[in-house]
This record gives sequence, structure tokens and C-alpha cells, in this order.
Amino acid sequence: MSTVANWQQHFLRVGRGGASDYSQAMKACTAQITALFEQADAPYSGIDPAKLREWITGVELSTQSPSSLERMIEEVAALIAKHSIVVQHPHCIAHLHTPPLLAGIAADRFASAQNLSLDSWDQSGAATYVEQHVSNWLCRLFGYDAAADGVFTSGGTQGNIMGLLVARDWAVHRISGHDVQRDGLPDYHGRLRIIGSAKSHFTLRKAAAIMGLGQRAMVAVPSHADGTMKIEALEQTLDQLKQAGLIPFAIVGTAGTTDHGAIDDLAAIAEIAKRHQTWFHVDAAYGGALILSQNKHRLAGIEQADSLIVDFHKLWFQPIGCGAILLKDAKNFRHLLQRAEYLNRETDDLPNLVDKSISATRRFDALKVWMTARSVGVDALGSMVDHLLAQTQAVARLVAQQDELELLAAPHLTTILFRYAGAIGASAIDDFNRRLRTGLLKAGHAILGETTVDGKIALKMTILNPCLTMQDFVDLLDKVMRFARQLTEGSPSHTESSCETVSGAAHV
Ligand SMILES: Cc1ncc(COP(=O)(O)O)c(C=O)c1O
Repeated sequence: MSTVANWQQHFLRVGRGGASDYSQAMKACTAQITALFEQADAPYSGIDPAKLREWITGVELSTQSPSSLERMIEEVAALIAKHSIVVQHPHCIAHLHTPPLLAGIAADRFASAQNLSLDSWDQSGAATYVEQHVSNWLCRLFGYDAAADGVFTSGGTQGNIMGLLVARDWAVHRISGHDVQRDGLPDYHGRLRIIGSAKSHFTLRKAAAIMGLGQRAMVAVPSHADGTMKIEALEQTLDQLKQAGLIPFAIVGTAGTTDHGAIDDLAAIAEIAKRHQTWFHVDAAYGGALILSQNKHRLAGIEQADSLIVDFHKLWFQPIGCGAILLKDAKNFRHLLQRAEYLNRETDDLPNLVDKSISATRRFDALKVWMTARSVGVDALGSMVDHLLAQTQAVARLVAQQDELELLAAPHLTTILFRYAGAIGASAIDDFNRRLRTGLLKAGHAILGETTVDGKIALKMTILNPCLTMQDFVDLLDKVMRFARQLTEGSPSHTESSCETVSGAAHV
């Protein structure tokens, strides 16, 4: 066989028979994934992480004798997939990390097989129109008019960076006519400030650093105990910054803080932003999905945002990564526009979405939202969100009813902040809860989040799986409390086998 003929087996090709190797590989993947899910009985296999690292790092990548793809699929299933976190397991509940909808997985399959790139029309064709259509639809959903526009992002981090970048360049141009994209930061850049709440996402600080403003440019307004921004403090902060000769150019409202799920008073922030002539950015990475639900009113004011971001890989149940940024005035995308002779010429009569993005090559993630909206339906999606909100309240009540557990905050969206507080001295409680979380994780029994609430180490459940029942939470809390009791009775020296006892007992 010629070398080319040998290589062909590794590709999906056009023409008769060109997809047969692909078809076989996908069939093998599907069989392995099916077996994996049918057999998964824990959120993590419980293998010692040190042993796992040893296995994985012992694999020779520069091999002179590569395996067949079939063999490789088996190896990945046995070595990697089996010992990875099972997001779909009812007791995997730590992060804003969703079990993906089948429609999204199917869309990913098209996206990977076709490998379209959304930077230019000549690398995408229909896909460009799909993304544009979904973006326009999102603009209408969030209450923007025809002047608005959007583009897909890899997620909330990229969205926040893009939103603040546009805000900075818009503000600097308005203040001094300076073009940051062309000329770099103005000489007064050290005075530029962004305001968010104390609970706003760390990627805003990251954005400030990346934008050359330094993390100090991110000013935190105090939050109420429930995680929402203190609006009166926002006014004071603006006044203080201005009096100190600083330039607050953007205010960020959060629609769903990562820990509390708190939604800032967006309408109040919009009014203040307008009065102070600052950009208003809304980080709706988490709570944006409420726009589909009966709880839509909780986002009131979002339609006044100059920019907003949504993550579809959170409460829209999409495979990672999938997000979007929307701008109220599409003209502001000009701050992201760079031309390349080979890619997006001014003379092109077909749209090149790279004009609006900080990425060049970009996945066809919009198809996930398209296929989901058309096959699951927006009403069902909204109902899932409403269900999760209601279920979270019920789980919070369940936590509050347990003598050994302490609910640390009333939930706003779908997170529960709590800790184990049975028979532990006050000075040891933080360390105990840390050990409780890592013990449960490493043994593969439950994957809970950990954060800090009012200086206390808190455990966190992030409820993002619409398939769970209340019994799943009863079992989970039972497991957590049993394991905690074992820890208080003298840390199990061999956590793995101790957990097996706990788990067995919990299911009797
Ligand atoms: C409120 C908020 N904003 C932004 C982000 C960053 O999003 P991503 O992880 O998609 O980059 C997160 C992530 O959890 C978040 O909770």
C-alpha cells in the first residue's frame, strides 16, 4: 500500500467509502461510552490520584509503534474515561458543570466531523448564517432591538474579556478620542477603573490584568450577606473614585454569582451607569438561562446592558465550551475589528464573523444552541431551569432539617452553601469540612464544591442536573453525614475502604 493509502485510514474523506473508517471508529466510541455510563456507579472511580498520575504519565507518547484506533479507543475507555469525573452522576455536584443535552452532543459530532471554522464564510458556509441567526435570536430574547448583535465565545472568561475590552476602548475614545486598538493605552490608563461587586467573578480581574490595566483597576463594591451588590455603596464608590481623580469606565452587574447565585439589581445598576455615563456590562454566565423561564423577571434591567455574556455550558446544559457575548449597539464590535488580507477583506460581500471576535479559528458551537432550541424546545429548557430553582429550595430545606448540617446562605439560583457542624469544635470546623470534601472526592463517593462564606469554609452543591430526584439528595446527604461521622470518630486511615462501608450502609 502506498503511504497515502496508509494515511487515508486516519481521515474522514469525501467520496464512496470515505466515511467507513469514521463510521467504525464512532461505533467503537459509542459502544465504549455506552458501557461506561451503564457501569458508572460513582462520580469518581476512587483510585488513588497518585497511582492515576503514575499510570497516565507513564504512557509513551513518542511511540514508534502506534496502536490501532480501535485499540486506542479501548485504552482510553479503560485508562482515562473510567477514571475521569462522571459529571452525570447524581453525587457529582460541585461546580457549574452540567450534564450535556444529547442535542448538544450531536451538534458537537457535526462540528468535529466537519471541522468548520467560524472565522470566515469560506471556512463555514451555512454555519456562519446559523451562528448569526442564533445570535440575533438571543439579542431579541434578552430584549435588545435590531441595533444589537452578538458572537459566540468559548465561555464566560472570553466573554468578560471581550466585554471589558470593548468597554475600555469605547470609554477611552469617548474621553479623549484616543484609539486604543491602534495607539495602545492612553497616558491616563493608570486611572481607569472597572466596578463590580465583591462577589463578581475572578475573570473580571483577569480581564483587567490582560487589558494592561492591572488587577487594581477592578474595584469591588461590598455585597450584602446574600451576595448581591450594595447599590448605595455603588453610588458612593463612583463618587469616591471620581473625587480621587480616577476614571470608572465600566460597571459590571452579575446575574448569578458563582457561589450564592445572587442576581444584582440590574435595573438599578443600569440607571446609575447611565447617569455616570459608564459602560454597563452584565455577567449572566450563570443566570442568563432565566430568560427562558418563569423567573425571567429576575433579570429585569439586563436589556439595558451595553454588553452581556451568557454561558450555554452552564444552565443551558450544553457540552463545553459554548458561550456568547451580545452588544446592545453592534457598532461597538468595531473595537475588535482587525483585517487580514487572507481572511476578512473589506471587499468581501459575504460575512466573516472574525470581524466581531478576539479569536480567529472558532468552533461551530452555535449549532448546539440551534439543535437544542429546535429539538428540546425553549419551553422545556425554561421548565428545567424553573424545576432546578424549586428543587434547590427543597434541598436547602432538607439541609436545614439535619442537626449535623448548617445551611450557610439562602439559595438564589441552584447552589447550596452549607457545612458539617456535628460534634466538632469551632476551631476545627473549617479544617474538618475541607477534609470531608477531599475525603469524599478521593474515595469517589461524592464531589462537592468548597468555597468561603463570611470567612467560613463552606461545602457547595451546584444543582445543574435536571434528571435528579429528591431521593438523590437524601442519599447524598446521608452519605456525607455518615462519612463525616467516621471522620470525627478518628480519620479513616484508608479512606477508600472506609467509604465503601459508608456507601454500602447508605444504600441499605
Ligand atoms: C459568574 C461567572 N462568570 C464567568 C465565569 C467564567 O466562565 P467560563 O468558565 O465559561 O470561562 C463563571 C464560571 O463559572 C461564572 O460563574
